[in-house]
Amino acid sequence: MCGIIGYIGQNDVAKKILHNLKKLEYRGYDSSGICLKKNNTLFVKKSVGEISNLQSKININFNSHVGIAHTRWATHGKVNVTNTHPHISQDKMWAVVHNGIIENYLEITKQLKEKGIHLYSETDSEVIANLMAISQKQNNALKLHEVTTLLHGSYALCLINAKEETLYIARRHSPLYVAHKDDACMVSSDPACFSEDFHDYYVLPDECIATVNSDGVTFYDQNMKILHLTPCEIGTFEKSSELGKYSYYAEKEISEIPHVLNDIILNYQTVDHFKHINKSFLKHIKSIKLIGCGTAYHACMIGAKYLEKFTKIEANAYIASEFRYQNPMVDKNTLCIFLSQSGETADTLLSLELAKSKGAKTLAIVNVPYSSIARNADIVLPLCAGIEIAVMSTKAYNAMLMVLYLLSVHIANINNDFSLTFPSEVKYINFFKNIEKIDEISDLVLKSDKTFFIGRGEDYVTALEAGLKLKEITYINCVSLPSGELKHGTISLIDKKSLVFVISTDEKLLSKNLTSASEIKARGGKIVLVTNLDVQDNKDVDYIYKIDRPKEEISSILSVIPFQVLAYKTCLKKGYSPDKPRNLAKSVTVE
Ligand code: G6P
Repeated sequence: MCGIIGYIGQNDVAKKILHNLKKLEYRGYDSSGICLKKNNTLFVKKSVGEISNLQSKININFNSHVGIAHTRWATHGKVNVTNTHPHISQDKMWAVVHNGIIENYLEITKQLKEKGIHLYSETDSEVIANLMAISQKQNNALKLHEVTTLLHGSYALCLINAKEETLYIARRHSPLYVAHKDDACMVSSDPACFSEDFHDYYVLPDECIATVNSDGVTFYDQNMKILHLTPCEIGTFEKSSELGKYSYYAEKEISEIPHVLNDIILNYQTVDHFKHINKSFLKHIKSIKLIGCGTAYHACMIGAKYLEKFTKIEANAYIASEFRYQNPMVDKNTLCIFLSQSGETADTLLSLELAKSKGAKTLAIVNVPYSSIARNADIVLPLCAGIEIAVMSTKAYNAMLMVLYLLSVHIANINNDFSLTFPSEVKYINFFKNIEKIDEISDLVLKSDKTFFIGRGEDYVTALEAGLKLKEITYINCVSLPSGELKHGTISLIDKKSLVFVISTDEKLLSKNLTSASEIKARGGKIVLVTNLDVQDNKDVDYIYKIDRPKEEISSILSVIPFQVLAYKTCLKKGYSPDKPRNLAKSVTVE
């Protein structure tokens, strides 16, 4: 989603800003813009589409010591140059870039119009620059403080003034970070940007503001009291974003899955991440709720199955945007687990706040260690998956399942069931068994009119995730459903141009799934059976794709991999970019 860069330096400011703006590309955007200050004037360039379009409009040697830039993922107003940030106040003194949503911008727009101020864009952000321009407070920090009190909704803001070499920043429910060294300062909505040039960075606390200039950073709380903060060191997570020998991050991240899973097991064996999840923590827990969005929600579904099966505690999965509005049955006897790769997904974060307000115990499973969800939960379990850049989440999903498996084993052990142990043999598993055959299967997808994914139990969740991956990056409209639901409506779609993936990794459910296959075959559909079971040739199955069979009950971690690869290969065959699918964002920081 939207991204922010602000930079102060002696040389190459435009160059530095564009270089770092490109690092935000992976989060998804439709347009980008930059504002540089020179001789008490603000110079703005904007462009729709790739950052390279913006780059071509800029003189990289433009002599400026301060600037701000933005990647915009449209929420309010069309994708066009006028709506692209930075936005300038009518008096041309203030420029703003904004992430988040200002809920009362129409009301503010009306008030500004009454004061004779004309707004050019359809965005909710332009009002902010104008509010700064008309504030009567005696200094700019106080002006920013006043403006934040007028805004409803969420924001990460970075502003510059035509007369100063200072960055003014503020945030509410949207992340913002700042780093400082002798000859440069940088503000970013993603701390991975700091890894090349800085040793550490500060997290701007929620509801706080700061001024950033060559003298350093001054943080203020809601009452304008100065805050003294401790910086965070830049760790290996922020540094691991290089593409290396791979053509795309999606390819790199899928190939990292075995390594990531092995790392998780080693890490959880050596570091006691579960130390706070003990008998007393679990004593009054009557139910577990797992909450997430998109791929993370699918991981919640598998996690609920692991937890219920291993711990015998009732566990259910919820889509965060639904959970928030259904008056959930949550109290101090509920354990709420929040899953998120980015740790910034707005609906998941706000669900966490809701659960906390109802007294629940909260646990976050996140990949980005410094994220808002990680900071706000009672307990955090790291995913240890390394930075994930491709919008299509792959390795983070497999990592979520592994951490959930380890957590379920841990809770079972606390409840005196020692029959379950951490998986030990991940390194002997062939995660990419038969993967070369995916090429052929991808041709089947491209030749079909309709694609379906079906399964039962955990395999149904794999069907959901397989469908999501295919849709996300190939734009193929496909349907995922439980095998048993096929005959309650969807089977009417099956014809000779239909391709159905039947996923079957549970011995007990194989015959049921094969019955579904027969029903599809009888209506002319083509079947690909994806299984780790010993299946003899079956007249109703056109293609059997065999995956490896692990000793532990972790087949869902493996069975999704062929589908991640299938989506990737099909995407390339269709000539699309697997890393940056249209309309999607890596980190969805708006509700
Ligand atoms: C976006 C991404 C998905 C992701 C979802 C939840 O929609 O495109 O890949 O699954 O957000 O993200 P999170 O960071 O909370 O796991």
